Amino acid sequence: MELKQRVFSGVQPTGNLHLGNYLGAIKKFVALQEHHDCLFCVVDLHAITVWQDPGELARSTREVTAAFLAAGIDPKQQIIFNQSQVPGHAELAWIFNCVARLGWLNRMTQFKEKAGKHRENASVGLYAYPNLMAADILVYRATHVPVGADQKQHLELARDIAQKFNTDFAEPIAKAGFEDGFFPLPEPLITGPATRVMSLRDGSKKMSKSEPSEMSRINLSDDADAIAKKIRKAKTDPEPLPSELDGLDGRPEAENLVCIYAAIAEIAPEQVLGDFGGGSFSAFKQALVELTVEKISPITNEMNKLMANPGDIDEVLADGSDRANQIAEPIYRKVKEIVGFVVR
Ligand code: TYM
Repeated sequence: MELKQRVFSGVQPTGNLHLGNYLGAIKKFVALQEHHDCLFCVVDLHAITVWQDPGELARSTREVTAAFLAAGIDPKQQIIFNQSQVPGHAELAWIFNCVARLGWLNRMTQFKEKAGKHRENASVGLYAYPNLMAADILVYRATHVPVGADQKQHLELARDIAQKFNTDFAEPIAKAGFEDGFFPLPEPLITGPATRVMSLRDGSKKMSKSEPSEMSRINLSDDADAIAKKIRKAKTDPEPLPSELDGLDGRPEAENLVCIYAAIAEIAPEQVLGDFGGGSFSAFKQALVELTVEKISPITNEMNKLMANPGDIDEVLADGSDRANQIAEPIYRKVKEIVGFVVR
């Protein structure tokens, strides 16, 4: 049975969508839709692994959906939906809870970072999060997953889970006619200059929704003045910009701004240095402000317009969830047969 290429990715509705989410993920979704069948999911089940205010969760779910739409994803050609409306995610995640090993999850750095010193108090869901993420992808037998670099370890785990399932159930899988295993080993797509956008205040930390300082990130909801202020105040160093890439070594803040420029302008970092190398940071920052406002503000304005009609957004999610379910349901049914559950 020939396996079709399929793209899946998810974004958590946990507030403050930022430039890292856009350049590391959403902008790539838009490009991928040209040549692939894609599912883009607002992962609300993941969001509740840490406490979310219910009203705010619903608002954030619509906001991420609005960002997908405003960035240019076509909801008719592709599937945009929220995770909790498709039961197959949580159902397959349970099976994966029984496939994945404790030792594998114990290695997950994101859990260690998020749980911090209060590990005993973290939810069981936060610990099992990567199993749900594997289920998100594999319940569609998706083959390609565009993400930022911070998700690499989770995707390696998803591959390990797919592999172990294929091995543990090799016999029933072969009997069902799948010669190369049931699940594909999903490939991470972590490409381009902005796979890890860093904080504007500290080049050693990634730009993050949870960082308390608003000045550390550009939010997709920021207006032109806020963008300008944050870029002008971004941390840099006293040297002028280098003309060659290796001149950025040991200068994480400078490197970050160059990579952001490159990703937004869709050019190589080398070219950015070719244009701005030798010049002052203030001139470069001014150019970066103009470019960012030119490319991001139209998305922000469109998001605001879409958010004024939440009913329309909910319709996109309902339609997308129905179509996602049509793909997931028969796949999950096969999984149940393979595992040995009695099905009707
Ligand atoms: P989340 O919601 O934290 O982030 C959404 C996407 O944005 C990327 N990203 C970044 N990229 C570059 N620089 C940054 N500073 C930056 N911060 C975030 C993330 O890598 C991600 O691609 N676990 C996922 C959501 C998820 C998922 C999935 C993704 C759930 N199931 C299945 C892919 C496939 C997460 O928390 O992303």
